[in-house]
Amino acid sequence: MVDGVSGTALSATLEKALNAHAAEEMHSSQLYLSASFWFANKNYDGIAGFLLKESEEERSHALKIYDYVLTRCDGRADVLALPKPKNNWETPQEVFRDLFEAEKEFSLKVRNLRSLALQEKDQGAHIFLDWFVQEQERAVDEWDKLNSKMEAYAALPGLLWHLDKELE
Ligand SMILES: [Fe+2]
Repeated sequence: MVDGVSGTALSATLEKALNAHAAEEMHSSQLYLSASFWFANKNYDGIAGFLLKESEEERSHALKIYDYVLTRCDGRADVLALPKPKNNWETPQEVFRDLFEAEKEFSLKVRNLRSLALQEKDQGAHIFLDWFVQEQERAVDEWDKLNSKMEAYAALPGLLWHLDKELE
């Protein structure tokens, strides 16, 4: 079954999944913002600024998906409600561990979304999502390193200021 125009419309399933994924990206953006504020409150402005940039990056991923949905014939971009992000961590290591875990989970979500595009026989969406799969591989690698660094820097009191300087 093809749509009325040219057979290029998104399936309802894929449209819903793309909008849901854009919301996940927005939630990820909110989580980074929350983590940024946590460090800002402790005067680690370098780390806070770095996390703020990560937050903006996640938002740009959401906008990229919404833009794609709108590009497709009759595609309807939909803004969904977001859950409140976590904001109460005990230690800096715990924040970084959470962010690393979140990026790993996100990789799985992106891969599942790309698999769904294939299942729906949607070549365009499948190709579009290639970039997201690779971006997640980069993000997980980056957070793997950041997490290791945080573990090392947090081992001795005061050393965290070096990481703060490094991420400025
Ligand atoms: Fe993202």
